[in-house]
Amino acid sequence: MVLPEYGWVDLGFRFAQPHWGKGLATEVASAWVREALDEFRVGQLGAFAHPKNLASIRALEKVGFHAERRDKVRGMDSIVFFLDAKLVNSCPRKEVVSARLPIPAAAESP
Ligand SMILES: CC(C)(COP(=O)(O)OP(=O)(O)OC[C@H]1O[C@@H](n2cnc3c(N)ncnc32)[C@H](O)[C@@H]1OP(=O)(O)O)[C@@H](O)C(=O)NCCC(=O)NCCS
Repeated sequence: MVLPEYGWVDLGFRFAQPHWGKGLATEVASAWVREALDEFRVGQLGAFAHPKNLASIRALEKVGFHAERRDKVRGMDSIVFFLDAKLVNSCPRKEVVSARLPIPAAAESP
């Protein structure tokens, strides 16, 4: 999905509860990323997840997204993630997939 108001091509996923915890998000996200980068030549992919949505965060990290900032996205307190094609293409994929970066703290309110 393209989020024109935020300027990125977004990866989002939602499964029915009986199917959680079976590795589906990781598998689907991995195929989606590969297709977006290799077939559609998208330069940068974005995603967002609520800070307490650990399954979603973990799935994003496993396919190579890095947490960039905390922000409100579509009204939800979120961690915003990005994945750059250049980074993926310059590393063996397994190194990108295993990268785990600290989650940024929420920005201070003015
Ligand atoms: C978030 C969601 C898509 C994850 O899908 P899933 O198929 O269950 O995810 P996976 O099985 O691929 O698991 C991803 C990782 O998260 C981990 N994980 C799962 N539940 C977890 C939890 N409650 N706490 C911490 N880690 C968790 C898994 O162990 C796995 O990591 P690992 O391979 O290192 O062990 C699914 O739970 C869902 O549809 N939730 C409702 C909608 C939603 O929140 N969508 C996301 C919006 S951004």
